Amino acid sequence: MEIQYKLLSPNFGVEINNIDCSKEISNSNLSIINKLIQEKHFIYLKDQSLDEKKLSNFAKNFGKLEVYPEKDKTKKFKQIFNVSNVSPEGIKLEPNDQRVILQKNNERWHTDSSYRFIPSYLSFLYGLEVLPPNVKGGETEFSNMLLAYDSLTKKQKQKFAPLHQVHSYNDIRRLEPSMPPLSHEERENFPPVSHPLIRVHPDRSFKYSLFFTSNTSQEISGMTLTKGRNLHKWLVKYVSNSKFCYKHKWKKNDLIIWDNRVLLHRVKSYDYKKYKRVLIRATVAGKNYVLGPYSNKI
Ligand code: OGA
Ligand code: MN
Repeated sequence: MEIQYKLLSPNFGVEINNIDCSKEISNSNLSIINKLIQEKHFIYLKDQSLDEKKLSNFAKNFGKLEVYPEKDKTKKFKQIFNVSNVSPEGIKLEPNDQRVILQKNNERWHTDSSYRFIPSYLSFLYGLEVLPPNVKGGETEFSNMLLAYDSLTKKQKQKFAPLHQVHSYNDIRRLEPSMPPLSHEERENFPPVSHPLIRVHPDRSFKYSLFFTSNTSQEISGMTLTKGRNLHKWLVKYVSNSKFCYKHKWKKNDLIIWDNRVLLHRVKSYDYKKYKRVLIRATVAGKNYVLGPYSNKI
């Protein structure tokens, strides 16, 4: 059956109604989903019946899955990341547990795995247990970086064009000093990288978007520390403008998919002590390193 969908906001996001992601997806439907990802960046599929295996099988339709840098954060499948304040044994974790702190870090605007030289392409997040419907918080919010770039002034576009941001997986230890240090091997495999602040998209006729995060450092290369941090602070505020944003309010068994190349996301803070929130995530690896306005167009 042909895919049916509706728009979720004027700027981006669609809801697909008639796909069962636990089953095999036909090639024609897969190409429709790929087209929707490219054009609408965010996809919502409700009432899905998934587990770790089924989620990774579905996500593999879109590319190779990433493996998380820290070994002990995963459950049975190393390609599935737990986004949960509940232990695998079903016990509620303390707010100071490192697994909960890792999720609190998701309250900062980011794209997944920007700390890799080739950052991720897509993320798939599935809700096993979510907050009650009348409770505020725990939503996942997205901001459209193509739109955010287009809305900059000409002067800002010129100023940002040559700049880069440093992205470091280890930076969470600076933001959250109570986290235990990474192992030697983990540090060895994920040294800091830098990416252009303006991302160029060869598959969109070389269109530009903003590309930065607030969970992997605040340093901008080409600026003093203070100036870089001030610009970073300004960017965080700028992308939070509701005209670029869409918020997903979770229901159990929701699956959402987003394009990390053009959207930032963050979780809205909630009462981590009071409510259980259990999601699982699969992430499809990117294929190309990040091009900036000064990269050669090859
Ligand atoms: C993630 C993430 C947001 C959320 O898993 O990468 O940012 O709402 N999650 O839990
Ligand atoms: Mn994330």
